Amino acid sequence: MTIVRPDAEGYRRAVEVLRAESVVAFPTETVYGLGANAFSEKAVGEIYRLKNRPSWNPLIVHVANVEAARELAESWPVEANELAAQFWPGPLTLVLPRARHLAGVGASNNTIAVRIPDHEVALRLLEESGLALAAPSANRSEGISPTTAEHVLRSLPDVPLVLDGGPASWGIESTVIDVTGGRPRLLRPGAIPLRELRDVAGPVTLPDDGPSDGDARPSPGMSRRHYAPRATLTLVEDVRAADRDESVGVLTYETAGVEGAEILSADPREYAADLYAALHRLDDAGVTTILVQEPPRSEDWLAVRDRLGRAAAK
Ligand code: TXA
Ligand code: MG
Repeated sequence: MTIVRPDAEGYRRAVEVLRAESVVAFPTETVYGLGANAFSEKAVGEIYRLKNRPSWNPLIVHVANVEAARELAESWPVEANELAAQFWPGPLTLVLPRARHLAGVGASNNTIAVRIPDHEVALRLLEESGLALAAPSANRSEGISPTTAEHVLRSLPDVPLVLDGGPASWGIESTVIDVTGGRPRLLRPGAIPLRELRDVAGPVTLPDDGPSDGDARPSPGMSRRHYAPRATLTLVEDVRAADRDESVGVLTYETAGVEGAEILSADPREYAADLYAALHRLDDAGVTTILVQEPPRSEDWLAVRDRLGRAAAK
């Protein structure tokens, strides 16, 4: 694998790899993506192989502008219009009725997930390649998403090329919302808070009680176990009261009195921005258990709680 800077030579090499139906990891504002020509079966197959991703889990297609997004959709619901106008480019993924003429990514599905990333490097790569890029997070299936080029290298050493755009600013994946019919349905909480979606699109249906595996899953990627470090992660009500030795790492937020802990912000957005990097650091430190101070149960913490819950799942 080669990590390259996003300069003229870097883009040239990246476009060459993409045109040769292989994959390139690139930065977005949420996490690093593993990109491939969305309409090349061979290139998309390479994503699934490298990530060891189950074939039933469809990919998000990244495009450079709204016109390109509309071409992927059979119809363009009014909610899509409003949400796109407000949040694109940005960390919101819309699940839309899939245009009938499309082959390739997620072809077994009659919907398609689309977003315009808010990142200079991602946008320039989309423009210079002239491709729509299918891109899941650039990590092994079920692992922690990468927020730096270094994380990609460690999780997927066989990726031929990584464009290094520095640390991802949001640090947590996009919010995924289904607008294929009726009231918009939240499929994955993420960077854009629910409150902001409601302000634009009105009431939003939430996923019913908790993650589960099985065919009936509305968002196929929301497996019970996901986003998991190598160490066993356990959520606890008060990390200060927990028993610890050197095999135990602690992740908490702005609470005093826990020596040697990873201490994140008490603001949910800042916490999310640092969460995956902190889990990577704890894994690197070689701990076998990570105790995580349970965040507040308020809606602002929905996405963080979702990721921690899945990381803790057996
Ligand atoms: O922030 C992000 O969304 C990052 C960056 C790279 O854009 N990408 C990302 O992709 O998180 P991935 O593959 O790790 O997660 C995509 C999620 C999965 O839960 C998947 O099941 C869901 O989106 N998804 C994709 N296509 C779908 C569809 N047609 N219907 C429902 N869910 C879909
Ligand atoms: Mg992922």
